[in-house]
Amino acid sequence: MSETSTSGTTPSADSDTNVASTAHIRAAVIGCGDISAVHLAAIAARPGTRLVAIADTDAGRREAASATHAVPGFATLTELLDAVEVDVVHVTTPHSEHAPLAIEALRRGVNVLLEKPFAHSLEAGRELADAVAAPGAGKLALCFQNRYNTPVRALFDRLRSGELGAIRGAVGTVLWHRTADYYRDRPWRGTWAGGGGGLLMNQAIHTLDLLQWMLGPVEQVSGSASTRSLGDVIEVEDTAEMVLTHAGGAQSVFFATLANSRNAAIEIQLETEHAVATLRGDLTIEWADGRVETVAEPVTATGERSYWGVSHELLIDHFHSTLADPEPFWIGVDAGLDTLTTINAVYDASFPDRAALAAVKETAE
Ligand SMILES: NC(=O)c1ccc[n+]([C@@H]2O[C@H](COP(=O)([O-])OP(=O)(O)OC[C@H]3O[C@@H](n4cnc5c(N)ncnc54)[C@H](O)[C@@H]3O)[C@@H](O)[C@H]2O)c1
Repeated sequence: MSETSTSGTTPSADSDTNVASTAHIRAAVIGCGDISAVHLAAIAARPGTRLVAIADTDAGRREAASATHAVPGFATLTELLDAVEVDVVHVTTPHSEHAPLAIEALRRGVNVLLEKPFAHSLEAGRELADAVAAPGAGKLALCFQNRYNTPVRALFDRLRSGELGAIRGAVGTVLWHRTADYYRDRPWRGTWAGGGGGLLMNQAIHTLDLLQWMLGPVEQVSGSASTRSLGDVIEVEDTAEMVLTHAGGAQSVFFATLANSRNAAIEIQLETEHAVATLRGDLTIEWADGRVETVAEPVTATGERSYWGVSHELLIDHFHSTLADPEPFWIGVDAGLDTLTTINAVYDASFPDRAALAAVKETAE
């Protein structure tokens, strides 16, 4: 039986938007594809932050985003930073571009809000960690926005307060669906060179992060990954299973696949000394004394609930509101390297030749 691990810090009530310290933050978005819409909407909705530029290597997407948001568009981050004064760049590009772009911005003293994963490989992640630690570097936030979901926060707070007692074990499942067109539309998603992996790097990484955040960093990994569906379209995995041993000794079991017929709600269930707690959208706590408690996920203003989660706006607001603080943002290098290290161990076991595959692809392009 292990003690509840509480690595990380949740934002406190008094760290909410501080208008005085956040006025006139100049933001830019690098990569104007699918997820950029969520970042652009959050920036537009935030008083005190102004979008000043966008960049995309794809001329069509660049021109469309530039026209829609009435800001200059650039083909590269370098051109953008040379031309426009920026406080924070949101990197929303394919995974292989994460570390190079983030490193370039950080070296120029610009803050970076980086979409997950931290990098497309553990090696690139370590280079990025060095850049974050370099003197004069900007600050970095990693977009594990699900840590801001109300039920997730409620569970973490109860673990940290000791109410639930020690964690005995956990299970995480991600049963999602991706079509061949999802990969054909954006070929990088299905390749080692562009994505650095598939399901684990792109989708299940959020759930892995939540398990590591709640149970503590993973010290031992036993797992495998495989391509069960769409093997004629993608070279990366779409299914994975693992048993993880966390610092302190608790184990979690994890199963994820993109071969399900729909995007089911992600589930994390924790058995603790005093309760069984289930996150499945909402949080349900079945206490040993028979009480059942629920914490609901609030609906968004539009009444919709994306399976991406509803918390990008919260993370973006928190990062922008704390840019001037000297300490690092609470989700960054540690969360990035912890998840990459676990995924890398599974890939080493299941895809030992992936680096060669990625190199062949890069040479061919
Ligand atoms: N946090 C979440 O829940 C969540 C959800 C979806 C996607 N994502 C992440 O967002 C990122 C983007 O995913 P997407 O599905 O929007 O991808 P996408 O392919 O739709 O968009 C990426 C865009 O980046 C552009 N681009 C590529 N290289 C570039 C470069 N060097 N400089 C500037 N622009 C460049 C592409 O032309 C494209 O328009 C990925 O890291 C993905 O994992 C996160």
